Order: sequence, then C-alpha cells, then structure tokens
Amino acid sequence: MKLFLLSALGLTVQGCTNILVTPEASTSNEAMIAYNADSASLYGSLYHYPRTEGGGSRDIYDWDSGSFLGSIPEAEKTHNVVGNCNEVGLCIGETTFGGLEGLCATFPGSKVDYGSLIWLTLQRASNAREAIKVMDNLMQTYGYASEGESFSITDAKEVWINEVIGKGTYEKGSVWVAKKIPAGYVSSHANQARITTFEWDDENKAMYAHDVMSFAQKIGLVTSADADRSTFSFSDTYDPVTFEGARFCEGRVWSFFSSVMGPDFEKEYVDYASGFNLTNRMPLFVKPADKISLTDVFSHMRNHFEDSELAFDADVGAGGFGAPYRWRPLTWEYGDDTYVNERAIGTQQTGWNFVASVRPSMPTPLQAVIWFGADDSATTVRVPFYASSTELPLSFVGKGPQDGVVPPMMTFDTNSAFYVTNLVSNWAYSRWSDIYPVVLARIEKYEASFIAQLHEVDQKVLALFNNGQEVEAVNVMNTFAQKLGNGFTEQWFGFFGELFVRFRDGYDITANSEDPECGCTVGGQGYNDATYKRIAEETGEQYKEPADSLKVRSFQPKNKLKVRGV
Ligand SMILES: *[C@@H]1O[C@H](CO)[C@@H](O)[C@H](O)[C@H]1NC(C)=O
Repeated sequence: MKLFLLSALGLTVQGCTNILVTPEASTSNEAMIAYNADSASLYGSLYHYPRTEGGGSRDIYDWDSGSFLGSIPEAEKTHNVVGNCNEVGLCIGETTFGGLEGLCATFPGSKVDYGSLIWLTLQRASNAREAIKVMDNLMQTYGYASEGESFSITDAKEVWINEVIGKGTYEKGSVWVAKKIPAGYVSSHANQARITTFEWDDENKAMYAHDVMSFAQKIGLVTSADADRSTFSFSDTYDPVTFEGARFCEGRVWSFFSSVMGPDFEKEYVDYASGFNLTNRMPLFVKPADKISLTDVFSHMRNHFEDSELAFDADVGAGGFGAPYRWRPLTWEYGDDTYVNERAIGTQQTGWNFVASVRPSMPTPLQAVIWFGADDSATTVRVPFYASSTELPLSFVGKGPQDGVVPPMMTFDTNSAFYVTNLVSNWAYSRWSDIYPVVLARIEKYEASFIAQLHEVDQKVLALFNNGQEVEAVNVMNTFAQKLGNGFTEQWFGFFGELFVRFRDGYDITANSEDPECGCTVGGQGYNDATYKRIAEETGEQYKEPADSLKVRSFQPKNKLKVRGV
C-alpha cells in the first residue's frame, strides 16, 4: 500500500510493513512473510481467486483507486489463491516506496498496477523465481501502472525481495532488482527501497531487469562515468533515503532488526533510524543468533518501538493511558516547524495483515498457510487458512477494488471480522494500559489454540493427501476455515462485549458473586502518574485543594452528651 496519497482532503498517510524469514532462520524450518497492508481506506477482506481454465480476457482494476486500467489475456490455467498465497506454495507481499517523483507518473496505457501484479502472479507462477519472471513479463508486456514497490516473494525454499520502479512517461514497463535472502537470514522492508548494490553475475543471489542501470544513464540519473556495476545502487538511484524515508520507514525495519539482533545493533543504527545520519544504512538482511518462531513473527508485527529510543508511549501525546498510537496526519506543524508522529509497525490504519508460512516438510498443496487478520496487527488474531482452501468463511472473505468491487466499508456489521476486530482495537486505543494487556493475553490464547488446531488438521489432510484423496483433503481444509474463521468472528464480538462491560465509563468492573448490589466490584485508578504530574504542573493552583482542607467531617458534640448506660 502507498505511503503518501494526495487526496482532495490533503495528505493522508499510508504505508505497509513486511518481515521476511528464511526457513533456515525459523525454529520450525518454514519460510515466512509477514505483511501489514496499511491504508485507512482499505477494508479488511480475505481475497479468494478460485482456479480457472480456458483463458479468455481479464479486466484489471487498480487496487488503490478501483479505476479500470484495461483488459489483458487471462492465462490458460490459474491457481487457486487465498489472500496472498497460492495452492502451490507461493506467497507475495509488498510495501510501496514510491521513489523519484519523475518516475511516479505512469506510462500512458499501462495496465498492471502493483496489487493486480501480485494476484495475477499468484495465479500464474509456481515458485519464487518463476514469480519474478512472471512479474517482469506482465510489467513489460502490459505496462506497469504504479509507483515504486518492494515485493516479498517466498516459496518453501527461497525468500526474495524484488524492488521495482516504473519508467515514468519515458518508456513502458519497469526496471527492477531482486535479491535472495541468504539461508539463515531475515529481512524486512517498509516503504523505502532497500536494495543497494547487487550481484550481476549470480542468478542464485540476484536477478534484475537488463536495463536497470542503462535506463538510469539514459534519463540522466547516473553519468556514464558513474555507471559502474560494482557501485551502482538501486535504492540510492531510484529512491534515495530522506529524513522521512529513514524515520517513518527504515525506523520500522530497525525496530524489527533490533529486536532480533540485540542492543548493539539498536545503538549502531539509531542515528539512521531517527533520520539524523542517512549514510549509516542498515544491511538488507541480518542473521539473528536465535531462530525465530511463528509466534515470534506475530509478536514482531505488534511492535510499537516499545522500550527503544523511538518509544512514544510515555509523552503527552500518549494520553493518560500510554497509548503507542497517534492520530494522523503523520506530520504536523507548530509555529514555523514541522514535527513527526512516530510510524510504528503496529498501527491503526492497517486494513488487513497476515503472516504467510510455507512449510517445506509438506507436499506442495499443503505447504502454504496464510495466518490472516483484519485490522491492526497489534490487536488482532490471525486465523490460519490453507491456500488450497476453496471455500472461505463469509466473515472474512470479500472482493476488493482490484476486482472492480467497492468493499462494504460504510456498513457496520458485527458479522464482519473487519468491524469486530475494529471494535476491540478502537476500545483498546481509548485506555491502552488498562485494556491492551487483557487483549494481548486473549490474542496469545487464540494463537496457541489455532497453532494446536492447525497441527491436528495438518495430520488429517496429510493422511488424506497421501492416500490420494485430494478432494476430501480440501473439504477438511474448507470445514476448518469455516469453523475457525466464523467461530473467531463470533467469539471476538463476544470478547468486545466482555471488554465493554469491564472497562465502561473509565472504571474496571469485575464480577463478584458475593456482592448483592451489582454482582460486581468497581475498580479503576484514573490516569497514570505522568498525566497527573503534567496536569498539576500545567494548572498550578486551579485544581489544588488547600493543604489544611478538612478531609473527613467527624462528629463533634457541642455539649457533653450523656451516654446511656455509662
Ligand atoms: C554517520 O554514519 C557513518 C557510518 O557509520 C559514520 O561514519 C559517520 O561518522 C556518521 N556521521 C555522524 C555525523 O555521526
């Protein structure tokens, strides 16, 4: 999704975060891609493209705007696609970096935007390297109709980052570089191009558009004297880092890398992540000492810079309950200066998010599982769906602008995973330090349960599959999807009710069967100390009681009383 979208109302800020984990860096030897699709105008739906056969023509709509871009020939056969994974173990995510202004305008007649590029490729390609070639072919044949993008592409063995930018109005198509994440390493990108130099003669390490450097020469970005393969940097040429590119974008990569690499890494690159030293660039990928589990990735996708130099849960902007959230716009003005809000991985404007896991230990049709959540990745539960499922739960599945369909954003619906998860997150935002610990505990309980349930169903579908009963295996996946998906949506709405009862009106109201008045105990302790300190300092005497004020009015007899019996 886009970082900046100029709308009639001014600058609305969007963006996305991806984390990439190679199988050798994972505790369970699975390839993982995590993706938050961040845009206030994005409805949280799980997209489903069933298998097709027979070709024909395919209408392409821009994922961001819903506008019709044109028609292209459909492939003879397409794969079943669930969310951002297909039935043969390929998953694709993205973040938008935009890039040089002069290349953002699309070449007239270009038909394939970045969203459609993802779903077309998932329908056509069977592994990561093939996906990179299919993407190239689609962009050069039909024209690329979006700004600069970093794509995360994984199959069960290889994880790649493919950075792409259009050729503006100079030429049709795009230039790009794809780099493989080495075994045992992890990577991340978040709205800033990250590939600098790359291997020109080793297809096991990098692939690229043949004119990736000569196009830069042609339009004057690189002089002939500087056109040196060993120093040519994709990112520095097409998307040079700026203060905001570092602070809003690389900052999120830094928070993930720091979490897995430790305090030395954090210190080494904090000047870069803060935007104050743009030459101190982080590596494209890092090798953590400890392997990373699926639940670790879930947790990294909940990061809000907690306990780091960019933490923003303690200043006045965090309110009386330490919320690591700031309402947009992302930058604001005071006096003659411009200020930033921090841009964390976990953020309010996420429409949907997932962690895709591709398991090399499984037969191809059972490899990809997309753990899909609607709304904010910090406050939602991700539900596992096999990418070979052919029926998805109604509370999750839906079409999007890329299908030429306007999603039901303006209809509040308690049967929609998107609106139910938004109820919980928005309630948590209002009193973060009180409500979020309760939400997080419940999320972790669901995660553990879903992991156990997936493991059980894995054994079932594997047995059926090995027995040649593929249709039966898919039926089991479908039943599992219905049960978990719709079950979750119903239960999470019930959980919102629980939270609402407990945290109503600023209190913390818990059940107490001993209490005859309400069957409850009313607790709660108001705002945090930092907030009271600020109020006291800002208002001086206004709310202050006199030091000698009478706190308790006790009974003071005017006359000596005669007490009976004494
Ligand atoms: C910026 O980072 C580079 C690379 O680590 C370092 O050499 C340089 O001294 C830093 N500049 C400042 C002003 O700290």
